[in-house]
Order: sequence, then structure tokens, then C-alpha cells
Amino acid sequence: MNPIRYVDQMDLAGKRVLLRVDLNVPLRDGVVADDSRINAILPTVQYILDRGGMPILCSHLDRPGGKRVPEYSLRPVSVRLSELTGKKVDFVDECVGPKADQAAASLTSGSMLVLENLRFDPGEEANDDTFARSLASLADVYVDDAFANAHRAHASNVGVTKYFEAKAGGLLMKKELQALEGVLESPDRPLVVAIGGAKVSSKIATIEHLSEIADRLLLGGAMAFPFLRAQGIDVGDHRADGEAVQRAKRMLDQRPDALVLPQDFAVDDGGRREVDVDELPKDQNVLDIGPRTIDRFASELKAAGTIVWNGPMGKFEQEGFEVGTRMVAEAIARSPAFSLVGGGDTNAALDRFAARGGISYVSTGGGAFLEMLSGRELPAIKVLARQTINA
Ligand code: 3PG
Repeated sequence: MNPIRYVDQMDLAGKRVLLRVDLNVPLRDGVVADDSRINAILPTVQYILDRGGMPILCSHLDRPGGKRVPEYSLRPVSVRLSELTGKKVDFVDECVGPKADQAAASLTSGSMLVLENLRFDPGEEANDDTFARSLASLADVYVDDAFANAHRAHASNVGVTKYFEAKAGGLLMKKELQALEGVLESPDRPLVVAIGGAKVSSKIATIEHLSEIADRLLLGGAMAFPFLRAQGIDVGDHRADGEAVQRAKRMLDQRPDALVLPQDFAVDDGGRREVDVDELPKDQNVLDIGPRTIDRFASELKAAGTIVWNGPMGKFEQEGFEVGTRMVAEAIARSPAFSLVGGGDTNAALDRFAARGGISYVSTGGGAFLEMLSGRELPAIKVLARQTINA
């Protein structure tokens, strides 16, 4: 476990709190289209307010590339935050500089401030020291509740920390780390992990680490192709590159019984057509796992003591190809095992199949969730864990 202090161990009365959150939420026509990441940080915001602290929220939104891009302003997010909390939320259209200084200085007990998108300034992603120092000068203490951004080493979650004596994780950070560390360090066995999705390169390191600790690793979507090819099955060269195949081979040698690969798929033949793995057509899109695979995955999930899921089994948004992903979502939601689910597409699948209610913990992280599952220490967690806190 990371020896991190959390906000509930801090003295907050009368303090300005720089609160790094992940408000990287989808906007549609200038309005927040999904407020789950805002809801997720409300307990921390409320906790700080209840203890007489004054939260100064900072976040990135999308990837504006170090310049001001009006459609990525955090202003609509501050409006939604005000609606959700029923409280006055000030917004300032910069994150460092005289206007931000002035807005932070004018905060009074019970009020909060949202700064403009951190990534409008090139200093954020460059982890620039001057930018970090200016940001830190707005507040007395620092709280990081942006688990979903913890795999980035940026000014607002890494550089800034050296300017605070008192720093801690937020309540969301605590929940995320406890859920992930529980699964990685002391899961109820068998630990069954289902990994799907389309981009093998973004997940191969995660699969490697999980293949060492999981009792069963179910591979769906494009994740299965390097493994099938490593077993000598002709899935088409374009579906599995050489390096991934080598890594898959090593995993198959080390944990042959833990890895569960598809036996059949569904391809797009103007509609759903189910084929065995050794009859996979080279020219048709593979859009789901097939019925035998679905049965096998379902029985593994039923027997699980702990479940982790990231990545759909296929293109569930397309009619006729939702079957595999729906089965995984429903099987996990039905299971009494502790279940941990993360990733943007996986979250969308939970909503689509009304399965969210049955999941023990749904992470707000995408990339951070995967990196943590790959066994790496995330840079923002590392700085919180290693530095002494004198709160
Ligand atoms: C996310 O949505 O995963 C985080 O906010 C990180 O965003 P990024 O990939 O643009 O750094």
C-alpha cells in the first residue's frame, strides 16, 4: 500500500486549498454531457468546505496544446459544479497571473473557485517550474484528487507539490487507490480479469502484469490476436504485429493455463456471421466474440472471487455485435465477487447495458487505471507518497 496521507488527516480551517481534480469531461454544445467525473469529486469539495477550507479547483480539459482554445474552457464545468453543489462557484479565466491571484485572495469561507483549463498554458504539460510555483502561490495546502490524471507528470500534480509542506490525496484518490491496491495485492481468489478493446499497444504492458497475478485472464476484442497468432493460428498479419506476438508468446509459455483465448468470433458479413478462430476471414471486420467463447468467459466470471474488467469484447455500438460485451457486463453485474471496472469505452458499455449498479467500484480512470494495473507507480502518486506531510 502507498503510504499516502489523505485530506481527512489535514487541518483545513481557514486554508486555501489547491485542489487538483480531473474535470476532463465531454462537452456538447458548450454544456457538460456527462457529469460523472464532477460527481466523483463532490465528497472532497464538500469535505473541504465543511472544515472551513476554501477549495481552488484546477484541472485540464481535453488537449488544447498549450494555448487558449475557447471550446475547452472550464467555465461550463464550473456552472455544472455550482448546480450540483447548490453553492456559489467563482470562475477565473486564467490559472496563473494577476486575475487568478486576485480571485484566490478574495475567497471567503464557504466559497470556492475554479481556475481556467491548466493546459491553456504550455507550462502545465512541460511540468515547468515557474508555472508550478505560480500555481502553488494561490493556496496554503495542496490536495490531489485527480486519479485519472495521475499517470501524467505535469506541473499541477507533480511540479507543484514541492512548494507545499501540507499535501495529501483527496477522498476520490483514496477510493481509487484502495480499490486498485486491494485487487492487485490481496484479491479473493480466483482473480478473473477480462481485457478487450481495439488498441493492443496501449494494453500489452497491462496484460503482461495481470498475466502474472490473475488466475484467469480472458482476452477479447483485438487483444486476443497476438496470442492466437503466437499459438500458430493464422489471424492475418495485419491484426497482430511482431513485437506483440513475441510478448504474447512469453506470456503463453509462462502461464498457459491462465490465459483464456477466444475459440470463435463474429465477423461483419453484411450482418453477424460466426466463425471459428481457424476460419477467420482476412478481409472482414471481426466485431465480437462468438458463442462458444461467450459461454466459456461467462463460466469463468461466474466462478470468480474478484473481477477486473477493461475494454469491450467487440464493437458493441453496432447492432448485432453487442452480444459478447453485454454478456460480460451482465455477468459481472450479477456476480457477488468484488468487481473493479475502468476505462471510457467500458464505462459506456456499463451504461448501455444498465450494468453499472452491479459493479463494486467503477474507476474514473482510463490511462491511469491501465498503468496502475500494469504494476507501475504513477508519478503523481509517487510524489504524494514520498514527501513528508506536515499537515
Ligand atoms: C483522461 O481522461 O484519461 C485523463 O484526463 C488524462 O487525459 P490525457 O490523456 O489527455 O492526458
